[in-house]
Amino acid sequence: MRTLIKNIKTLVGAGSEGKLRLEGAEMAQLGTIDNAWLLVDGERISSFGEMRCLDEATACADLVVDAQGGMVLPSWCDPHTHIVYAGSREGEFVDKIRGMSYEEIAKRGGGILNSADLLHTLTEESLYEQAVKRAREMMLKGTGCIEIKSGYGLNTADELKMLRVIKRMKETLPVKIVSTFLGAHAVGRQYTQPEYVNLIIDEMIPEVGRQKLADYIDVFCDTGFFTVEETARILEAGAKWGMLPKIHADELASSGGVEVGVAHNALSVDHLERMTDSQIEVLRGSGTMPTALPGTSFFLNMPFAPARKIIDAGLGVAVASDYNPGSTPSGDMKFVVSLACIKMRLLPEEAINAATINSAYAMGLSKDYGSIEAGKVANFFITEPIPSVNFIPYAYTSPIISRVFLKGEEVH
Ligand code: NIG
Ligand code: FE
Repeated sequence: MRTLIKNIKTLVGAGSEGKLRLEGAEMAQLGTIDNAWLLVDGERISSFGEMRCLDEATACADLVVDAQGGMVLPSWCDPHTHIVYAGSREGEFVDKIRGMSYEEIAKRGGGILNSADLLHTLTEESLYEQAVKRAREMMLKGTGCIEIKSGYGLNTADELKMLRVIKRMKETLPVKIVSTFLGAHAVGRQYTQPEYVNLIIDEMIPEVGRQKLADYIDVFCDTGFFTVEETARILEAGAKWGMLPKIHADELASSGGVEVGVAHNALSVDHLERMTDSQIEVLRGSGTMPTALPGTSFFLNMPFAPARKIIDAGLGVAVASDYNPGSTPSGDMKFVVSLACIKMRLLPEEAINAATINSAYAMGLSKDYGSIEAGKVANFFITEPIPSVNFIPYAYTSPIISRVFLKGEEVH
């Protein structure tokens, strides 16, 4: 089946030309074509061009969709989420308003452990239903790839339960999903820290590996959670099963997470709110994508990752929502793009690249997703008529999406 999208005011994100990620000054280049068309063949992008060059054969597609002067963008790619979780934690939201910090809440046994208690009581079916609802909301807001982490199980059975839910989502939803094993999110209530780290290494990782339930492995490498040494042991155990690392680093302190991540060939190091100049140098020349989560800084009233500095140093940056019940209960990537502009001083072009091609890279998917390129999967959205690309982050709460296509088919 061939679908033609015609009368596109501006086709956005059509300039990556086979690059798997954009770095430094390249990030301000957002390939655009005005008055454009886009042809989809089955699940993939076939070709695109200017309306004035649209030939008759292309115009006779099986289905013709009139963009009516809206723009077309590649779907957002969200490379860091925790959307498989039980219930919500708005009580802690109020505790924070009253003055408690995220760390204080965690120390008194709340936070992640609260979510783990709730998840323990929930059936796999209800957990799936709750997570699908969040994924659907994200799809309709323009997200076409989602990384989802475990990490609210904190014992072997419940971590496996979470990963099975993610596997079922991969099989049943049109959005592209990759899974990350985050047993090392917090220490499960019934264990001491060393016991729990051994459990992750000796029992959880081999079982997750045998059942092929995770593409990647993550550790919350930060003060009060897991040390650099523990992180290194866990990453080495994951590597034996082919799980590349994606690390929670430098959120609460300059934790050594970037260094241990890069040393273990991490695909991404995420958060980075407390990152310093020396970590930027550690990233240089590596294949690791620094990934900022500005929604978390906004929601927790924390510093923002130094994304401007990282780009000015010649490196790439990705952004993600971090959608989770504690530090940012939102998967709205358009708002993340606005925050990247407003709070981290990225240009709209840089922020959009950070939320598409570079975020696809941060989940190992940029060969097939993250830009408008012949042969890539046809994940894109059509906007309402809008005056310019800059309007997207500027109008920071206005919904702009008119129609969403994933794998070449419209999603309702
Ligand atoms: O990325 N920082 C660690 N993990 C999550 C928060 C999880 C939670 O509070 O439930 C994050 O912000
Ligand atoms: Fe996170």
